[in-house]
Formats: sequence, C-alpha cells, structure tokens
Amino acid sequence: MLHDPNRVYIFDTTLRDGEQVPGCQLATPEKVEIAKALEALGVDVIEAGFPISSPGDFQSVVELSKAVSEPVICALTRANKGDIDAAVAALKFAKRPRIHTGIGSSDMHIKYKFNSTREDILARAVEAVKYAKQFVEDIEFYAEDAGRADNVFLAQMVEAVIAAGATVVNIPDTNGYCLPELYGSKIRFLKENVKNIDQAIISVHCHNDLGLATANSLSGIINGARQVECTINGIGERAGNTALEEVTMILKTHHDLNLHTNINSKHFRQISDMVSSMMRMPVQPNKAIVGQNAFAHSSGIHQDGFLKHRENYEIIKPEDVGVGSADIVLTARSGRHALKHHLERLGHELDKANLDLVYERFLILADEKGRINDEDVLFLANEVLKAQ
Ligand code: KIV
Ligand code: ZN
Repeated sequence: MLHDPNRVYIFDTTLRDGEQVPGCQLATPEKVEIAKALEALGVDVIEAGFPISSPGDFQSVVELSKAVSEPVICALTRANKGDIDAAVAALKFAKRPRIHTGIGSSDMHIKYKFNSTREDILARAVEAVKYAKQFVEDIEFYAEDAGRADNVFLAQMVEAVIAAGATVVNIPDTNGYCLPELYGSKIRFLKENVKNIDQAIISVHCHNDLGLATANSLSGIINGARQVECTINGIGERAGNTALEEVTMILKTHHDLNLHTNINSKHFRQISDMVSSMMRMPVQPNKAIVGQNAFAHSSGIHQDGFLKHRENYEIIKPEDVGVGSADIVLTARSGRHALKHHLERLGHELDKANLDLVYERFLILADEKGRINDEDVLFLANEVLKAQ
C-alpha cells in the first residue's frame, strides 16, 4: 500500500461517538447536513453510525452514503456477524464503504466485559475481520481499551487482524487513561514489534477523561500513527473525544512536524456553530480554536503587545479558522493603547491630554459595568470633547 508518509488522515466520528452524548441525538436530515459540511471541510472518513443499534441509525448510514461522495463512509460494528451484516446492508450505497469492527483488548474488558480469555478474544477478532472482508475491502479494526491493554498481547492482536485483512488498526484509549508518553510509546511499540504493520494504517482514538485527548493523539501521530479519530468541538462520550479543530491546527501550526491533512480550516467556526446548535451543546468560551474568547485579548499588557505587532500574542490568524478578526475587549483591565485603538476605529483621534481624560472616566465606568462597548466609548469621548 503506497501512502504519503507525511499525510495524516482525518476520521470524523461526530455523527457516531459524538452523537452518543445524551441529548445530542440528531434526525437523519440534520446528520446529512453535517456530513455535507464535513465533506466540504475535507475530512477523509465520516463515521456515519452504528447500524445495528437502531432503525434510525441504520437509515442515517444509508442516507449519508447516498449524500456524500468524497469521504469514505464508515459504519461501526461489534465483532459479530449480525452487526456486520447490518453494516454491510446500510453501506449499500456508499461509494467508498468501510466497516469498523472490533472487540476489547485489555484484560479488564476480556475478563469483566466478555468473561473470556485472550485466546478466545483473538479468535473472535480475526473471525470478524475475515467475515467483514468478504463484503467490503476496507476494514478498520478497533482494539477497544487498548490504552490499558498489555502491549505484547495488543501487538499479537494487531498482527493477527492485519493478516486477516484489516487495512486500518485503531488503538483506542477508550477511557482517556493514558499520559502522552505512555500512549505514544504504545504506538511506537506496535510500529517496532508488529511484523506486518506497514500493511495497515495505525489510527489513534483518544478520549478526554483527563483532558489529554488531543495531547495523546498528537503523541500517537508523532510515533507513527497516520489516522486520527476526532469530533467537531471535541464532543463525545463523557468528557469527549479529540477535537478535530485542535489536532489539525496543531499540525498546521507546527511546520517542524512536517505533517499535513486535507482540512480547510477556514470552515471551523461555521461547522462548530452548526454542530453546537444542532446538538444543543454549547461550546465553552475558552475552548481552543472555536471558543468565543479564543481570539479575544483583554488585559492591558496583552492588548498593548498585540497592537504593536499581532504575533506578539497571536499564534493562529483568526481568519485562518473562519473568525473575522481578533477582538480587543475593553474592560477595567485594558490600557490606554486599547482605548485609543477603539477611539480611532470610531473616528476620534484624541491628543494625549484628552485621551487621559477619557481613560480616567473609562476606568470608572468599566469597574461598574464590566465590559465597555462602542456606544460607551463614543459617549465618553463626546462628554470630554463637549466640556472643552
Ligand atoms: O472509544 C472507543 O473505544 C470507541 C470504539 C468503539 C472505537 O469508540
Ligand atoms: Zn470512542
């Protein structure tokens, strides 16, 4: 298989892992709208759903398969024939179908979820991949709870499923347990110890229980993974999944990594708003890249530095992620430079003495009001100028 070694594939699971969030369920037409926006964003794979889980989810996979042509359409299954048959049927219209099948890989899951043994689980994993491969060429295998699995057993499982036909091997940190070094070394271990690893792409799928999903995904990529599973706004089970906008902007910002994706980051704000409103899931204001405050400068020291040269306090251009421009917020923490900037923007070039007078009044009002808007600035300027 020939792959550009510097290309990182983006597997979006907003409509599967993301949609598992209580209260975020979507109707099929809404899913189709999001899928089209994901296609325009440039994702490589859309995980459209888990067809066996409900008739509605089955139908969504059918409709998404018809509506989208560029990205691979992927359907989730457990490692059993019934799930795989449902996925095959739901993917009937997909131009580029993928089945995502898998089973637990940690001793915790093997013992307490499956009441089974490593040998039995390995056999079931291989059987599921072989069964799915009869219907669909592109098979992704997930080793659930790989974050807590024994590396030697995980390597054995990965080698066996690749030999059975898996084209992508997903190494999920299902419980968001790993630290970046631990997760990265797991991917490195697989790269170094699985004989046929070059016949498949390693995928990272990290949950955010300790706030490390993005850092862990990045560590996996640096150690050789070339597909990352993520969601818009980082939504997903419990504390969520890796945020698509974060991991892709890291790759875009750090040229030293020499890795690239097909994502057009200018769509980020628009698709973030779309997912947030359709799923009734507000984005926290300080969320990286897409939060309301992600490009708002509010302290006097930062505002002054920003106004002297924006790169003093800006590592990403807001226009690169679909946000109009940076925001110089006026509060009691702002300095004269920020106030002068807004006065000039509103048509007032004041000399130093008048600026000082407006600034004195500004601080009193800002202490009372919190945030100062354009009307307040104009009112204060007019008050000072009228008194002369
Ligand atoms: O977190 C996980 O392990 C998953 C798998 C089903 C891929 O979502
Ligand atoms: Zn998951």
